[in-house]
Amino acid sequence: MIIITNASEEDLRQIYEVEIESFDNPYPYSLLKAYYFLSGDLFIVAKDEQGRIKGYSLGIIQYGYRGHVVSIAVRKSERKRGVGSLLLRELETRFKGKGCSHSYLEVNYKNEDGIIFYKKLGYIVVKLQVNYYGRGQHAFIMVKDLLDRTGFE
Ligand SMILES: CC(C)(COP(=O)(O)OP(=O)(O)OC[C@H]1O[C@@H](n2cnc3c(N)ncnc32)[C@H](O)[C@@H]1OP(=O)(O)O)[C@@H](O)C(=O)NCCC(=O)NCCS
Repeated sequence: MIIITNASEEDLRQIYEVEIESFDNPYPYSLLKAYYFLSGDLFIVAKDEQGRIKGYSLGIIQYGYRGHVVSIAVRKSERKRGVGSLLLRELETRFKGKGCSHSYLEVNYKNEDGIIFYKKLGYIVVKLQVNYYGRGQHAFIMVKDLLDRTGFE
């Protein structure tokens, strides 16, 4: 069984392991720790009953109305089993509970798996942000309406 819960400071080591195996340019441990203090209950983990971390996600609120998905990652061995979906849906629920009208994120334009994942979860590409991650490293900006308004696209 997978349990989605608030990250604790003790979880950060395992979260960092997930981060390292998930990204070519992982966030340093110190940045994850800073986000742990910044994000509050928008830093969440997926655990099994033994407390092993299967994945994490973290977000922040921008301008009081926009939930920003800062990061989401699932252990390689645990992917394609719905863990990422559970994490993202919970983060969106928490954004909505804090008054956000939509969820917003950047994803590397070459991260096909990530883009398919976000589209499956209802996100649409609204912009290509050129050189977002560095020269030649572009990002798609993707958004999702959290209020089920028609015509959002
Ligand atoms: C993106 C990521 C978080 C998805 O986590 P996950 O637990 O595998 O996702 P889910 O199992 O909930 O997948 C939900 C849907 O997304 C799509 N999807 C997810 N991974 C996919 C892949 N590798 N290829 C194609 N489609 C994929 C599928 O449509 C899937 O639904 P289905 O299983 O019914 O077909 C995970 O692949 C990951 O950690 N990647 C590395 C880090 C990353 O790129 N993060 C996102 C950018 S910040």
